[in-house]
Amino acid sequence: MTETNIQAGRLITLEGGEGAGKSTQINTVAALLKERGLKVVTTREPGGTRLGEAVRGVLMNEYDHPMPAMSELLLMFAARAAHLAQVIEPALARGAWVVTDRFTDASYAYQGAARGLGDDAVATLERLVQGERRPDGVLVFDIPVEQGLSRAGKRGHGNRFDRETVAFHERVRASYLARAEAAPERYRVIDAAAPLDRVREQIESALASWP
Ligand code: TMP
Repeated sequence: MTETNIQAGRLITLEGGEGAGKSTQINTVAALLKERGLKVVTTREPGGTRLGEAVRGVLMNEYDHPMPAMSELLLMFAARAAHLAQVIEPALARGAWVVTDRFTDASYAYQGAARGLGDDAVATLERLVQGERRPDGVLVFDIPVEQGLSRAGKRGHGNRFDRETVAFHERVRASYLARAEAAPERYRVIDAAAPLDRVREQIESALASWP
């Protein structure tokens, strides 16, 4: 097979609020895809590259002055530009499936909705940084906010985002659910409050349902 015959991979993203169990379930997703004989790359945002992980440190830490929401959004996309150029696009080009713990839906949910910057600001950067690249499939791990926060055991501590109000996290959740409802062909909502074996079944049927 020549280079040009290699089938491009797919981009699968895991999204959801705090305590939804994405970081554990990414291993389930990767294992299920590997069972199909696919090459799989797992990664996360913000992060995935040296620059991205450094930016993550800047974004997660508390400062004695608040970070403007626009700075937060631009830092997310600064990290994403490196992630796309250095990890995601090269992996897709060699036929791997990329599974990432968060991507641009998180910017819509956290910066666009919860911080109030609006969808248009996020969409502008999405076009600039990603061109036509969009996730092929999005798994939204949904859990009631109070349950997610207490499950994560992060309430009152954790990173800058974990310490936000319940109302903030409700806006995050509502944004994810609205985005899923608007594009049902690409999004699957997983009931992350269900027992672990049920969560796994939902992941299996979501992956099986994408052509
Ligand atoms: P996590 O690793 O626990 O998911 O933490 C990442 C945090 O970063 C999470 O609170 C969501 C936030 N985030 C955004 O606000 N916007 C983004 O675009 C991304 C990728 C993450």
